[in-house]
Amino acid sequence: MTNHIKIIQPDDWHVHFREGDMLSVVTKYSSRVNRRCIAMPNTLIPITTSAEALNYKKLIEMNAIKKNFEALIPCYLTDNLNISDFEYALQKNIFIGAKLYPNNATTNSHFGVNNIKNIYNIFEILEKNNKILLIHGELNRSDIDIFDREKYFIDEELNHIRSSFKDLKIVLEHVSSDYGVDFVKTNSNISGTITPHHMLLTKKDVFEKDKINPHHYCMPVVKNEKDLISLRKAACFDNTKFFLGTDSAPHHVNDKNQNNPLKAGIFSSPSSIELYASIFEEENALENLEIFSSINGPKFYNLEINRDYLILEKTNFNIPEYTQEENIKIKNFYGNQNINWKAL
Ligand code: NCD
Ligand code: ZN
Repeated sequence: MTNHIKIIQPDDWHVHFREGDMLSVVTKYSSRVNRRCIAMPNTLIPITTSAEALNYKKLIEMNAIKKNFEALIPCYLTDNLNISDFEYALQKNIFIGAKLYPNNATTNSHFGVNNIKNIYNIFEILEKNNKILLIHGELNRSDIDIFDREKYFIDEELNHIRSSFKDLKIVLEHVSSDYGVDFVKTNSNISGTITPHHMLLTKKDVFEKDKINPHHYCMPVVKNEKDLISLRKAACFDNTKFFLGTDSAPHHVNDKNQNNPLKAGIFSSPSSIELYASIFEEENALENLEIFSSINGPKFYNLEINRDYLILEKTNFNIPEYTQEENIKIKNFYGNQNINWKAL
């Protein structure tokens, strides 16, 4: 029986660090096991300029518990970006790429893009500079069922982006459906991140009769068993185009109160790599964990693979229910549950 596994140190290609006290609390958890994280730019005032990106990067790295931890920042795309600053920041590697949030698709996305065709000039710049387009792939028109938003985005937007910019490297973030997995597999220059929660939950865990479990509510919303299975297979076996991105997205417990407008997001960084290890073990694919957690991501982003290693021990890990410090209280994903792996 395997008691320990040793993997190249992972990176997390999709994390929300927020700002203020929340940032200092949650940064400790992501820097616990990862060498690099993509820090999503959907802060209250979104990160849209080189100066804001440099500042945000510094702030996160200052709060990390490991010296060599690196925060990588994509630009938050809006309808009215300063193009010369954007191109300068790409060329100086201040922006790792750019994140497309369709307007109002998720938390803090009201500055997002209204008409994607109007920012095709930005995709051209990304393609020319060999930088990545990260996409929140959901179309949130009122006539579209919440479970079909990813499919509609692919059909009505992503297909067209893909065929218009053939050399543009795209990450379809937090792939959540069988349809999304299939799109990533069958198109070139596109990869996908997969979260632990999309491989552990189905819509029954969110919508129970007429109630919503706020702690399992996230965007894209988790879907059916068929989608969960397809995501597990993609991460664990079909393993060159998919990589680790937790979409760990903390919200204060009060913002998860159902009386307030419900904030979408699941906080998983206190047990991120451990949850992935448990899923890979259930799939009998532990030997493929490292490719997913530590190799496919840097390869796609044209970055070096990490030199350090991380050891996971097979032991009972009881995930604490909350992350709590002074005025911050966040519900941990899988809080109060036991899993089989713990990073040393
Ligand atoms: C994220 C957040 O809270 O910032 N929420 C979520 O449900 N995933 C935003 C996002 O990545 O969609
Ligand atoms: Zn996210």
